[in-house]
Amino acid sequence: MKDDKKILENLAKVFAEKFPGNPRKFFAPSRINIIGEHIDYNGGSTLPCAIEIGTYAFARENGLNKIRAYSVNLESYGELDLENLVYDKNLGWLNYLGGMAKYIKEAGYEFSGFDLVVEGNIPTGSGLSSSASLEVLVGQVIKSLFNLEISYVDLAILGMKTENDYLDLQTGIMDQFAIAMGRENSAILLDTASLDYSYIDVDLKNLEILILNTNKPRSLVESKYNERREETQTALYILKKYVDIENICQLSSFENWEEILLHIEDKTLYKRARHCVEEDLRVKAMVKAMRDEDYQKMGKLLDDSHRSLRDFYQVTGKELDAITEGARMAEGCLGARMTGGGFSGCAIALVEKEAKEKFSQQVKAYYKEKTSRNADIISSNIGSGPREIL
Ligand code: GLA
Repeated sequence: MKDDKKILENLAKVFAEKFPGNPRKFFAPSRINIIGEHIDYNGGSTLPCAIEIGTYAFARENGLNKIRAYSVNLESYGELDLENLVYDKNLGWLNYLGGMAKYIKEAGYEFSGFDLVVEGNIPTGSGLSSSASLEVLVGQVIKSLFNLEISYVDLAILGMKTENDYLDLQTGIMDQFAIAMGRENSAILLDTASLDYSYIDVDLKNLEILILNTNKPRSLVESKYNERREETQTALYILKKYVDIENICQLSSFENWEEILLHIEDKTLYKRARHCVEEDLRVKAMVKAMRDEDYQKMGKLLDDSHRSLRDFYQVTGKELDAITEGARMAEGCLGARMTGGGFSGCAIALVEKEAKEKFSQQVKAYYKEKTSRNADIISSNIGSGPREIL
């Protein structure tokens, strides 16, 4: 993976080739989610953290009323007219910029055009949220270049709005929030119903969270994601006939939640709702285990979460199941689960630092045997949020 020094050197070169003047430098991280999966659109709590790999930008005001932008990863150049920001399928990645610019403007902030070159080291299609990283990065660029007093929570909200309203992808707020509000060595405990949040120290002593990339290309992820969202809405509609709730995860504070769920007769909808309630309870249990430094319990919660995402929510798939199975059998592993939207992408595993090499070899071998694919094992510290690099 290309490191930050190499990326910054390259961006300096590419910016000088494409645009005049001295640019400023920016960074936005990507994210993993420790636990609390597929419940950010069901009013649950999640526990994500920003990581040190992410997206970098060189940018400068251009005195025009347009954004001129180049992506090194995609080798793609395009321009956006700030007076006419509308989604256009043919613009591809530029729509993330368009959405952010449109909604920052609509929120009442004033700014003009700028030139931008971006490059990231987030593996493509890995489910580590390269799109949210780009959205928040563009927000940071606009905020810094034009001295806007816009908060990071608002940047996260506008990032989600870009996905939901501009790109028509019905995702929750977890990714943008984790990236915009990331803090070193901390996970963010986010209540997605109220947006209340707090930071939880991640002190893993002789353990480390490793990222396991299945390297499986993503397909049909969006339609399956929207299908899950609809299923949980239907389950909520049924539950509302029996209890006064606004979202499924509210049930986790009811002692008799198991009984209440039995009102859902359809087996599939029952499983979806059960995942939501139990996953929300696991987030609370994870926070307790982290505070108690109970690492065995943390590992078990990761395993339980994966099982529920596999059997109840059904968003894992052969590759994520194989890689987490391999991880659980490998040396020094306390637990493993998929992270993010699922179907493909990455898993995380809680692993003893000393066993890292052996663990990696064993997981790769097992995964190759089961799927004929090569896995990548990524090590990245929990890092802070978006920033200007001075
Ligand atoms: C994707 C979405 C998030 C969240 C996760 C699953 O990453 O963007 O909002 O729903 O899937 O937890």
